[in-house]
Amino acid sequence: MKGIILAGGSGTRLNPLTRVTSKQLLPIYDKPMIYYPLQTLLTAGITDILIIVAPDHAGDFLKLLGSGKEFGCKFTYEIQDKPEGLAQAFLIGENFIGDDNVTLVLGDNIFAQEFGEEIKSFKSGGRVFAKQVPDSFRFGVVEFDENQKALSIEEKPEHPKSDYAVTGLYIYDNSVVAKAKSLTPSARGEIEITDINNLYLKEGTLDVAFVKGEWFDTGTFESLHSAIEFARKRALV
Ligand code: DAU
Repeated sequence: MKGIILAGGSGTRLNPLTRVTSKQLLPIYDKPMIYYPLQTLLTAGITDILIIVAPDHAGDFLKLLGSGKEFGCKFTYEIQDKPEGLAQAFLIGENFIGDDNVTLVLGDNIFAQEFGEEIKSFKSGGRVFAKQVPDSFRFGVVEFDENQKALSIEEKPEHPKSDYAVTGLYIYDNSVVAKAKSLTPSARGEIEITDINNLYLKEGTLDVAFVKGEWFDTGTFESLHSAIEFARKRALV
């Protein structure tokens, strides 16, 4: 299993915090944000990790994280020239992924849970993790039937069919690269990870599990603040 941390994007929603630095380098209490998704991969036993960054701050990531030796892993770096969608990670990462399966974690997602079991038991298809939230319209939203079987996933729907958001940790088999290649950009000009999930769903190979414990997407000032408060409490116990 290879790992990818997607840490590009422009972070415009957190302006002016992100005017001179990258969102994923902002402090979450006592550590830079990217340490948390990195920890998610490391605690699952993934040690071969591609970090995808935007051109402006590539040097800062390299300076912060280095070769990976300090963390007991190996980092590869790639630049995403423009933020053209989460699914682009699998195009940029094609050579890195090779013939392996891959776990993608978003550089701004913070999970309290460890995913060792979920990642080690993964065989094929796709596995994503849903979490009940009060503002699901901000996310990919899963529609379930009465047996909690996933029926559809919609990206930022105006009228969400449930309050279950798809979180930023995605486990895929090697067919994700071919799936990413088959996508066309959405109305907002991005190739969407939600479209990849729907391809797996259509094949009948998408496992939608649930996040246990807290989860933060740090996309807004409010959620950034909650994540910092969570990290502070955890560091102080
Ligand atoms: O956090 C989970 C959500 O992440 C999912 O529920 C959504 O389905 C998914 O589309 C995504 O939504 P966001 O609105 O949070 O995506 P955002 O554009 O904020 O990007 C998430 C992270 O990925 C962020 O740290 C920036 C980075 N990124 C984003 C894009 C579009 C890149 O590195 N490259 C990109 O092209």
